[in-house]
Amino acid sequence: MNSPRLGVNIDHFATLRQLRGTPYPDLLECAKIVENAGAALITVHLREDRRHIQDADVVMLKKNLKIPLNLEMSLSEPMVKNAIKVKPAWACLVPEKRQEVTTEGGLNIFKLMKRTAQVIGRLNKSRIKVSAFIEPDVKQVEAAHALGCEAIEIHTGAYANETQLLKPNSTKIQKQFDRIIKASQRAAELGLGRHIGHGLDYSNVAALASREWDSYSREPLFQEYNIGHSIVCRAAIVGLDQAVREMISEITAP
Ligand code: PXP
Repeated sequence: MNSPRLGVNIDHFATLRQLRGTPYPDLLECAKIVENAGAALITVHLREDRRHIQDADVVMLKKNLKIPLNLEMSLSEPMVKNAIKVKPAWACLVPEKRQEVTTEGGLNIFKLMKRTAQVIGRLNKSRIKVSAFIEPDVKQVEAAHALGCEAIEIHTGAYANETQLLKPNSTKIQKQFDRIIKASQRAAELGLGRHIGHGLDYSNVAALASREWDSYSREPLFQEYNIGHSIVCRAAIVGLDQAVREMISEITAP
């Protein structure tokens, strides 16, 4: 059985740094901890407004990481040129709206067919593998396949949002869950890589992770998970004890 891969999205360590303009948290230190903990790749989103990850971070990570870099990026020309220059192992094509808190929906490939095809071709020519971040919709999966994507990343936000409500409604959760399964099964039939991400947390991921594509080979339905916010939040909790002890030591034994 092939084990699924975890890509850790480290954007929100950069969010903490940008909030105060401090040199910490050091993004390379974060990435190395993630790497040593067994993650299969580091994911970053270089947003057009540069609200967290900066251009220099992407260059620095590409230079220093042992594991592959997955660069989430919009279809804008400066982003494409930048990716071709930096050459991450993967580019994940995402839609981007300036005012959104996070990537709130998947890329509508039908609306942007010509541009998406052109960008995939240019990235592939530079030996960058491409995934498209799409809604759990069979038609979008088929379009991503037709345009030559190596993988799709299913936007799991709608499912995650349902699970994270104060009073979760199991029918609504199931509906969103089924959409993800159906779209991913179609991707598997087409031979596309199956990545998922957005809003996945320690409570809602297991239901997805237990799904197999092929019960004989025990091939998992989802081959890659890209998860950020919940891991950063968990790190704050599990690291808090040590962080407080280190500061007490600084002030009591300077
Ligand atoms: N995958 C993609 C394509 C994303 O845009 C994001 C959010 O930046 C993630 C995964 C990670 O989402 P979260 O931070 O909610 O785990």
